[in-house]
Amino acid sequence: METKRTLVTCALPYANGPVHIGHLAGVYIPADIYVRYLRSRGREVLYVCGSDEHGVPITIKARQLGCSPQDIVDKYHTIIKDSFEGLGIHFDIYGRTTSEVHEKNASEFFRKLYDDGKFITRESEQYYDPEAKTFLADRYIEGTCPKCGFEGAYGDQCEHCGSTLSPEELINPRSKLSGAEPVKKKTVHWYLPLQDYEEWLRKWILEGHKEWRPNVYGQVKSWLDGGLQPRAVTRDLDWGVPVPVEGAEGKVLYVWFDAPIGYISNTRELLPDSWEKWWKSPDTRLIHFIGKDNIVFHCIVFPAMLKAYGDGYILPDNVPANEFLNLEGDKISTSRGWAVWAHEYLKDFPGQQDVLRYVLTANAPETKDNDFSWKDFQQRNNSELVAVFGNFVNRAVVLTHKYFEGRVPQCGELLDIDRELLEQIPQLRASLERNIEEFHFREALKDAMSIARAGNKYISDTEPWKVAKTDMERCATILNISLQICADLAIAFAPFTPFTCEKLCDMLQARFEWDKLGCPVILPAGHQLAPAQLLFSKIEDEAIDVQTARLEAIKKSREQAEKEAAARKAAPQKPSCTFEDFGKLDIRTATVLAAERVPKTDKLLKLTIDTGIDKRTIVSGIAGQYSPEDMVGKQICVLANLEPRTIRGIESKGMILMAAQGDGKMRFITPQEVLANGAQIG
Ligand code: MF3
Ligand code: ZN
Repeated sequence: METKRTLVTCALPYANGPVHIGHLAGVYIPADIYVRYLRSRGREVLYVCGSDEHGVPITIKARQLGCSPQDIVDKYHTIIKDSFEGLGIHFDIYGRTTSEVHEKNASEFFRKLYDDGKFITRESEQYYDPEAKTFLADRYIEGTCPKCGFEGAYGDQCEHCGSTLSPEELINPRSKLSGAEPVKKKTVHWYLPLQDYEEWLRKWILEGHKEWRPNVYGQVKSWLDGGLQPRAVTRDLDWGVPVPVEGAEGKVLYVWFDAPIGYISNTRELLPDSWEKWWKSPDTRLIHFIGKDNIVFHCIVFPAMLKAYGDGYILPDNVPANEFLNLEGDKISTSRGWAVWAHEYLKDFPGQQDVLRYVLTANAPETKDNDFSWKDFQQRNNSELVAVFGNFVNRAVVLTHKYFEGRVPQCGELLDIDRELLEQIPQLRASLERNIEEFHFREALKDAMSIARAGNKYISDTEPWKVAKTDMERCATILNISLQICADLAIAFAPFTPFTCEKLCDMLQARFEWDKLGCPVILPAGHQLAPAQLLFSKIEDEAIDVQTARLEAIKKSREQAEKEAAARKAAPQKPSCTFEDFGKLDIRTATVLAAERVPKTDKLLKLTIDTGIDKRTIVSGIAGQYSPEDMVGKQICVLANLEPRTIRGIESKGMILMAAQGDGKMRFITPQEVLANGAQIG
């Protein structure tokens, strides 16, 4: 096993919303398992996280709510920090990128790269709000989507049809700040020339880290194969770390430049005198826990920044990024409210932190996107945690109280069934250790669960409650062995379900070193246990129904909103036509004199109309919407010179003009006031 010290970082969550199960499953729970495991093995670990408090979305949220960005980050920093604590995720430091230490550290970092000539500058044209006198991030530009006609599309994306856009494409673009039309203005920014690091990155990762997860390695490879470009590290914005260079007024460090430096800043804040041993020593391994959308920043950009800085900074040893977790089959979305929030879970399921930790690990999206469902959550709790782990421990402890006054009984002669059980544990331990060390947390959890299953099967097969009637010595042996397995569980599950293991240790009146896991005697005969208490409790349908009903309601209101939006959605414009083209159309008012259904059809009405020049027949496909009685006497508009067509044996001369919108209904057009028949439209 590795003996180096380990610096574990978790992606700094944006402080513009609470954390949800996707964050937990992807980043924070696996990291926590890893850290708890290393610590239980006596390894030196530093566990660093904090809030990412810069970036445009935070400023937008502040504007929407009419408060300052600082108010937003203060609020969410606390909510997020408390959620982690509540789930047993105790970082050595949970800092913030608005801290003084960070501002100083990030500035200094930029300044050194700047002084060392590691940046290039480039002039580009950016959108500018001439009224608010400020540059506009793409998100600050709104307009009509060229693809679907939605009027509230952003400069980078239309949330209605999902298209990726650039501000240039928006129809009628306007600034969200002032409503003014944005103009292009020249601006200069600093860029890190990533292409200069390409060869070095190839060697370091593609040749040197073939052990990285295939999803991570593959993403890095495709970025490198696609060729790297200079990346802007500054922005025109008033929220962020000011660019520490003269003449850079109104510019801040790009959030993805300052945030990863936050890992270093937070370490410095915690350990002002000894932080360097965590960041600049070859005896430290650096592990970044992140989600897949962060891979490029942690495997390419941040390492290039550290490399450019030099000065002995270490690079990540591994970046175990996870894929995404879905919720009930749909992508988790903060803006659409489609999520299970950590702080709400803690309120709704008090004392059940380990159930969430367990389920999110068992379902972790390690190799592919995965799904969380409340049914599965309930099922895993009731049939795995309660029925296997909890049930086994409960039987062992209750029977020990019943027959042996709560003292660990003597172990007598072993039978095959005893030996077979005991032999499994060291093997499962070896597998569990290997799996955690290789970041396969799902598999590691299965190994721990296999110990519980083996114990539960053992106690069911040996039936000590029956044996007690005839052979107290044999009963003692069975319970002794069962209690050793309980101790194994307290050790093996500790990284995954720490609250439960705490309870279990209280019950067993003992604390255990990792190295006891799999030893034949962990609890000596005669050791006194505390009274039995249940480790897990059944989750009833009612509790699950509350959650699914909440999600149902969100889904319904979203579908409703989508329907309404679809009904209003305008079709894209047709290719242009000439004035002459249009002039050929003879459109005029007419009045319906008579109407009848065309026999044996659902859709067709035969109308007799007065066009001002003649009385004629038109067959129109509007019977789905209008009955003959609706039509008689109505004034309509008609394309009079359409070539006649014969429909169902009736000659139809012209076409009634109808308006169609997204709801599928057709509506005829009536002049604002009754006109003479034959009035020209154009
Ligand atoms: N805030 C980012 C996100 O949630 C993660 C930042 S990680 C850091 O995707 F390295 F930049 F800090
Ligand atoms: Zn659109």
